[in-house]
Formats: sequence, C-alpha cells, structure tokens
Amino acid sequence: MVFLTEGLSVNKGHLKINGCDAVDLAHEFGTPLYVMNENAIRNRCVEYKKSIEDYCGGSGKGKIIYASKAFSCLEIYRIMRDEGLGIDVVSEGELYTALKANFPARDIHFHGNNKTFNELFMAVKNNVGRIVLDNFCELKMLEKICSEYGKKIDIAMRIKPGVSAHTHEFIRTGQIDSKFGFAIETGEAMRAIKYIGQIDQINLKELHCHIGSQIFDVEPFVLAAQVMMDFISSIRSEIGITIKELNLGGGFGIAYTKNDNPPSCEDYMKFISKAIREKARDFNLPMPYLYLEPGRSIVGEAGVTLYTVGAIKEIPNIRTWVSIDGGMCDNPRYALYRSDYTALIANKVEKDNDFKVTIAGKCCESGDLIQENAWIPKPKPGDIMAIISTGAYNYSMASNYNRIPKPAVVMLKDGKARLIVKRQTLDDLLKNDL
Ligand code: LLP
Repeated sequence: MVFLTEGLSVNKGHLKINGCDAVDLAHEFGTPLYVMNENAIRNRCVEYKKSIEDYCGGSGKGKIIYASKAFSCLEIYRIMRDEGLGIDVVSEGELYTALKANFPARDIHFHGNNKTFNELFMAVKNNVGRIVLDNFCELKMLEKICSEYGKKIDIAMRIKPGVSAHTHEFIRTGQIDSKFGFAIETGEAMRAIKYIGQIDQINLKELHCHIGSQIFDVEPFVLAAQVMMDFISSIRSEIGITIKELNLGGGFGIAYTKNDNPPSCEDYMKFISKAIREKARDFNLPMPYLYLEPGRSIVGEAGVTLYTVGAIKEIPNIRTWVSIDGGMCDNPRYALYRSDYTALIANKVEKDNDFKVTIAGKCCESGDLIQENAWIPKPKPGDIMAIISTGAYNYSMASNYNRIPKPAVVMLKDGKARLIVKRQTLDDLLKNDL
C-alpha cells in the first residue's frame, strides 16, 4: 500500500488529490506544479483551534498563529484570515503580502533576528499586533521609531529557553548558542526586560520561544513551557510584573514517509497545557494566554509537487538516475537537510514499487537531488511524478537558480482547482534586469 496523506486517493491507477486527477492537473497547468489542498489546510486550522479551546480552558484563552514562512502568498493569508488565525511574518515581503491580502495587522506577529530599520518602521506604522523583539540593537531602533513618531507599541520578546530539540541542526533554535533571541542563563533577557520597563512607548505583553522545527517528541515542548513559566515567575519576583501571554512557537512534525508517525496537535496540546497549568498552580500565576505558531503542520501534508519524468540513466550495478523537470530550485530540502520524501508515479500508482532510483533535478549541480534510494514503479519519460508532503518550505524556499522559472501553485477545494500563483514566465526572469 502506498503512503497517502489526507485528501489523496487512487482511482484507476491514477493519483487523485482532493478528487482531482493528478495527471489531468499536470496536463492542464503544466509541470513542475505545486498542488495545495485547501480542505486539508482548513481542517488543520480547525483542529488546532479546537485543541486550544479544549486544553486551555475554553475559547478566548489562546490563539493559533500560522507561521507563514512555510508557505506565503496572497491566497494563504486570505484563508488564514477566514479561519480566524493570526500569522507570523518574518520580513518586509511577508508583511507586505499579508497587508495586501487585507490581513488584520493586529493579528500579525513580526519575527526576525535582524529586522531592519525599514522593516520595524513598516511594522510600527501599520500597527502590527506584536513585534517580537530579538535583540538590544532592535530595541534601540524601536525606541527611536516610537519616540519620533509618537507611537505606543505592544511587543513580545524572543527567549532562548536553553532546550535542544532532536531535529536537524540547521532547524534547531532553542539552545543558548543560537542566533535567535535573548538568553535566560546569561541574564541578558532579564536585563532587557528591566530596560523595557523604563520605556513608556514599549509595552512588553508576551514571552516567546521556538525550539526548532519538524520535532516529533512532546518532551522538548513540555520542557520549554516549564522553563518559560519559571522565567515568568522570576520576572514577577525580581521586577514585580506578571507577563500574561506565552508563545511556544511552532515546530510540530509532519509525515513525509510511511515511517513518520508524528503526534497529533491534540497530543502536543494535552501535555504542553498540563505543564503550563501545573507551573501556574505552583507559582500562583494566572494561566497565560497561549499562542502556538505552527507552519509546517498546517500546510506541509496538504501539498504535492507534480513533475514530468525526463531522462533516465541506468548505471549497471550502481544506480538508476531519474531526472525530473524541476529540482532544488523548487525543493531545496534534500540538498539542505537530506529530507526524506515519498515519490509516486501519478499515472501508475497501482503498480509495485519494485524499482530503486535516485531522483535528480535539472539544475547544474550534483547535489540537486530530491531523493536517493526511492522505490517506485519502473518509470519512463513522460510519466508524472508526485512528491508528497511538499506544502511547507518548498514554494517558499524556491529560487531561480539556473534561471529556471518558479512553478505555478494550484489550490484545490471540494474537488475544484484554481490557480493561485501563476507560473513565472521567461520575461519575469528579466523583469529587474537593466
Ligand atoms: N515560529 C518561529 C519563530 C519560527 O522560526 C518557525 C520556523 C515557526 C514558528 C514555524 O515552525 P514549523 O511549525 O513550520 O516547524 N526551512 C526549514 C524549516 C525552517 C523553520 C524556520 N522557523 C525546513 O524546510 O525544514
């Protein structure tokens, strides 16, 4: 049985995505093609919202913030607005896109370890709900912007909880040796909080941490929650203020292959909320308003990328190379992290996966691989290959390496497809060239 995520099925040997034939989609919109399943995305949003309600003491006790770096375009911000989620943006570009989609500024968290003056100015001017303060340099800039423009702002503060999660080192962030946030151990977080306490225009509302991404264990989240509650208690003892909002970031893992078995969002919430509740009781603190910031787990499994198979090279006793019409330019994750993926041949899903291949892209680079040692039915040029669980950090990490235009994105809802991002044209590639 092939590995299929929500909304995928097989009909007459063809892969179907939310009721649409993947081969027809490839022919209608061309390949490479990112296909996103809106129903699956909305289902994840509903599950997350419900888990906050169920475990944080009812509605109005927390909010889910979609980390839009996972997949960002106008349409996803409209969907998130419609679902009543907040969003996390991390650059001028994401903020601009969200505002253009009429996303309410008050529900935006603005992140980043090196926000520029212009980015901070744009966030303050547009009344972004929370700027997530990362460092002293940024604090000075914010102070200047607020006093020059007579603005008062609410901020969150990014804390390194000193928790190291079991995931790829490039996507691990909670440890003390990280470029993100203020450390507790060195005293810099407390120093910053004391400093902020003296600035009238800057109001510290929320503490934030994010320990990493694609994490399957609940334990590091529980540890991070405990460390953050301990710190909230220390702040009250030392400075006499009670921080009432806690943001535990994102990082919840998803399934890329049949071997992945991530906990459900309910499992994460059950244990995280219990840890927070116990600490609140022990320290006699109010239960904080809880934010979670999932990105990958909202859109990741909802995406499939379709490619057309091109050249095939069998090197006897070594390997068979199968080249596709995309590659690291639309999905750099194998090149960066050796990420596992599941590959299917969309026009022969019922055939046995008895042929071992290395799937290579078309970029001029030996490391341009999508997967090694993948088992698929024997492919031939013209087959449509589907790579599963590519909804997160694929389109958003795509590049124009080798001047390859970025693929189109199609959104599927209730069995109907609509184009939400056009394929780049060759002229788009020249647009900024002088
Ligand atoms: N909040 C903050 C502050 C973050 O930095 C991130 C991800 C998230 C939330 C969302 O994390 P998620 O739920 O998506 O795991 N390019 C890498 C992932 C980088 C994650 C960066 N920050 C990859 O393709 O695996």
